[in-house]
Amino acid sequence: MTQDELKALVGRAALEYVTPGAPIGVGTGSTVNHFIDALAASGLRIAGAVSSSEQSTARLRHHGIAVLDPGAVERLAVYIDGADEIDPRGCMIKGGGAALTREKIVADLADRFVCIADQSKAVPVLGAFALPVEVIAMALPQLVRRCAAIGGAATPRAGVLTDNGHPLLDVRGLRIADPEALEAEIGGWPGVVSVGIFARQRAAVCLLGTPEGVRKLVF
Ligand code: 5RP
Repeated sequence: MTQDELKALVGRAALEYVTPGAPIGVGTGSTVNHFIDALAASGLRIAGAVSSSEQSTARLRHHGIAVLDPGAVERLAVYIDGADEIDPRGCMIKGGGAALTREKIVADLADRFVCIADQSKAVPVLGAFALPVEVIAMALPQLVRRCAAIGGAATPRAGVLTDNGHPLLDVRGLRIADPEALEAEIGGWPGVVSVGIFARQRAAVCLLGTPEGVRKLVF
């Protein structure tokens, strides 16, 4: 099976976590696109979706799925999203699609983060994937120096601004053995909007696509 077929497999499998009549949180990326398409094809009626990006909003609306204002939602039972890496405790690197800040905001509304990913995303330790950090532009040079001081090589993502209008740094060379500590440290630097480590909002469940089928990891 191709990587895209594995993504489609888990996109369909995530329908199990959708409660008819209830609202859900929806992430961003190619795996989530499969989930949105599967949701539309399933005929399941939901109260609407809180979306984590303009890209997902457009896809949801294209399928006639109502997009809810996050400010009007106090709580979601479930948030369904992909990941760039996921470790054995359900901590993740996210933001490959530049949507990390809104993803964190919507994930924070949810009781449960259900991660959907192809098997290549499961890693013993986070950090082989460059860590995305959304930043305020005037802080870029200082944040590059701060990353270097902890052993990371940070480069601005060329030609990309987030949906919030901010640039992103991609930080290479970090071995993230303590995701909670690094999330707190980088998140506290002046000028950081958000860091793509999801340790506080880690996954409760991961549906991992493998050629043998969906492997369900519960954390
Ligand atoms: C977007 C994300 C995505 O969840 C992550 O990049 C995985 O994407 P894909 O499903 O396309 O592999 O964090 O900001």
